This record gives sequence, structure tokens and C-alpha cells, in this order.
Amino acid sequence: MDLLIKNVHICDPQVGLDKVADIEISGGVIKNIGKCDTEYERVIDGEGRLCVLPGLFDMHVHFRDPGLTYKEDIITGANAAKAGGFTGVACMPNTKPPIDNAETVGYIIDKARQTGINVFPVACVTKAMAGKELCDYVELIAAGVKMISDDGRPVENAELMRQAIEQTNKNGLILASHCEDLNIINGGIMNKGRISEQLGVKGMDRASEDYITAREICLAMSCDARVHICHVSTRGSVNIIRAAKRDGVKVTCETAPHYFTFTDEKLLARDADFRMSPPLRTEDDRQAVLEAVLDGTIDCIITDHAPHSAEEKADFETAPNGVVGLETSLAATLTQLYHTGKADLNKIAELMSVNPRKIMNVDPVKIEIGQTADLCIFDPNLEWEVIPSELNSKSKNSVFKGTKLKGKNLYTICGGKLVYQL
Ligand code: DOR
Ligand code: ZN
Ligand code: ZN
Repeated sequence: MDLLIKNVHICDPQVGLDKVADIEISGGVIKNIGKCDTEYERVIDGEGRLCVLPGLFDMHVHFRDPGLTYKEDIITGANAAKAGGFTGVACMPNTKPPIDNAETVGYIIDKARQTGINVFPVACVTKAMAGKELCDYVELIAAGVKMISDDGRPVENAELMRQAIEQTNKNGLILASHCEDLNIINGGIMNKGRISEQLGVKGMDRASEDYITAREICLAMSCDARVHICHVSTRGSVNIIRAAKRDGVKVTCETAPHYFTFTDEKLLARDADFRMSPPLRTEDDRQAVLEAVLDGTIDCIITDHAPHSAEEKADFETAPNGVVGLETSLAATLTQLYHTGKADLNKIAELMSVNPRKIMNVDPVKIEIGQTADLCIFDPNLEWEVIPSELNSKSKNSVFKGTKLKGKNLYTICGGKLVYQL
């Protein structure tokens, strides 16, 4: 592909790039960054308005393939990712069957070749995600796995989790933990507090998250190993991770835009599209998550893109947890962090592109001469309303439905090819 991207704000903290310039791409490779005088047949003119970041990376999505493809499949999930500006995603293993062997890993890698973006299958910590027996990590690595997780559930047995952390680290994998104590959750469907009481529904006590976060940190300390904490949503969890990082524990973590945008007041409408696990919390938690994103306690922004059908989401109390997010993540992050003056584009690039690749040990993508073009080009000021029927994802359970966001991805370039254009 030959393409001139003209007059755009280019930002890549990895190479100290933060300026308005042109990018020349020839044969899919970045040939020049600066002022271009060559004529190109194909031109994207940013008119000084559009911004370019290294292709975004979401290290936590659910593509439901194999087995639950009425919700999403690898192709539709990747279409949602491309529309959102993502050139890489890691898809969680709670599929049917779960991703716990080389064959299922191979199926995903094979099918993902058609998508034009990079899809990294996450494998289970325990066989069938049953929490009883560890998977064969050596076999999984050989099949191409970089991360393991029983996301959707905790590994209940702490000693088994300790062994998993120890083994994965020996093998260069990262373990991502869904921190939720099921005994404390005890059938709760939303954050336990004033709103759950008002609605008369069973709450999920925040201790369920804080306690397992603390447990995983203790286990990582005991093995002097890395561990990654999924979707942080509470002040308690944030405080525990911040303190651990100060003490030199090798813990990293993520949050999703909904946790720094909304609170459990959203649940007052009794709409299951606002239910996810962990749940939307209080204003105090939302503030704590925001502070932690800004001070570096939280390393990256993920979506936990969790598609469910409209039928499944119809009943508030019995619906499964989860919300889609790939097509609103950049916009919501720009709206909450950039347009409020809290974070600049360098910070957003770190949260959504650089850090997740680092945590997963995936090759970095850089805006640098000689690199294969891997970019997202967006209009930071384009205002739009989230209309679920317009989403590429097969499922429409967006927590941002009806919300006005500012910022939209327009083009996604991956592996030197234009894979998406609005
Ligand atoms: O809300 C959630 N949905 N949280 C999870 O951890 C799992 C996910 C899903 O698979 O639907
Ligand atoms: Zn989870
Ligand atoms: Zn998840």
C-alpha cells in the first residue's frame, strides 16, 4: 500500500514523537515522517485536525468463538475492533469449549488470519476453567499463547493459583486474574450499596474484588513473579495495587472506560445492559479509578468487550454480565481524559497501545521510519451519539447507548494495510 497521510497530529511516546506532520507509507512501510513533497495517488488529508497514534491494543475482549457465535465470532469481533482503532486484541478463553489446548488455540489463530488484525488467544489457567487442574503451559506457548486467564471466574484454590503464577512466570507468560470471590458475591447482580438496596436486589460486596486483588498480590510476592489484575473497579483494589507497586511487587492492572465514566446509578433503570462483572460502583470508586489511571497505578485501558444477545439481556435480574466496548473505548477515553484536560495523547497512547503490548510481551508498534504501518487515525473532536444498531459487533449491549461521545476513529491501518475506513 502506498499512502500519504497529510497534516496530522502524530503522537508516539515510544519515539518521542508529538507534532503535526505528514506520514509517507510506501509498500506498507513508513518511509518518511515530516514534510512530504512527493505526489501520492492515495491521500488522507488530516487538515491539521486528525490525530494518529500507534494502532490500539485491547488485551481483554471476549469473541465467543468457538461455540457461542450467536453473540459474536472472530470476524465480527475483529470488525468491531478495527472500527474502534484496534490493530491487536487478546481474546479470553471462556468459549465453548474453553481455550485450554493447542487445538483450540490453533483454530482461533487460523480463523483470525482473515481479519487483517492481530488476535492473540488467551488460554485458561485451569483445564476447562474448572479450577481443579493446571493447563499444560508449555504446549500452549508452543501453540502461540502469550497470556493465561480463567476470566469470568477466579481460581478459587489459592495454592493452585500460586502454582499457576509460579509456572507461567517461569515460562514467560503473564497471568491475568479476574478478581472476584464467589462466596462474597453470593448471587449478587450489581454493586452492593444504596442503589442495590433501593432496587431491592442482591448486591456484590466490594470486598469480593479487594480481597482477591490482595490475594493475587500476596501470591505474586511469594513467587517474586508478575501478575496482572483484570478490570479494576474499586477504590480498595486501587489502593492495594498502588501500595504493592510502591513496594516493588510486579503487579500490573487494567480498567475499562465504563468504570471511570459511570456509577451504579445507571442501574436505576433496571436495564441489564448496565450489568457487568465487576459491576459499576459508586462515585467515590469512579474517582479512585480515574486518579489511578492518571497516576500510573492503572497501566492500561481495556474494554472487557463481552457481547450477549438481546434475548439474554432482556431480564434485568437473570441476564448474564457483560457489555460490548470496542467501538466506544477510544471515544469514551478521549471524552473522559483528553477533553477534560486530564491526559494528553501521549498518555492515551501509553494506556491503549504501548502498555498492553508490553505487559503481554507482544512486539511494539511504533510510528518510525522503517516500521510497517500500524496506526489509528481519528478525529478527536467529532461528536457522535452511540446508537447500538450501528455497531459492527453482533451484540448491541452497550453501556454507552444513547450517550454522546467526543472523538471517533476514522481509519485503521494494520500490517501496512488499510483494514478499516469509516
Ligand atoms: O461482565 C463480564 N462478562 N465479566 C466477565 O468477567 C466475563 C464477561 C463475559 O464473558 O461475559
Ligand atoms: Zn473478568
Ligand atoms: Zn472479561
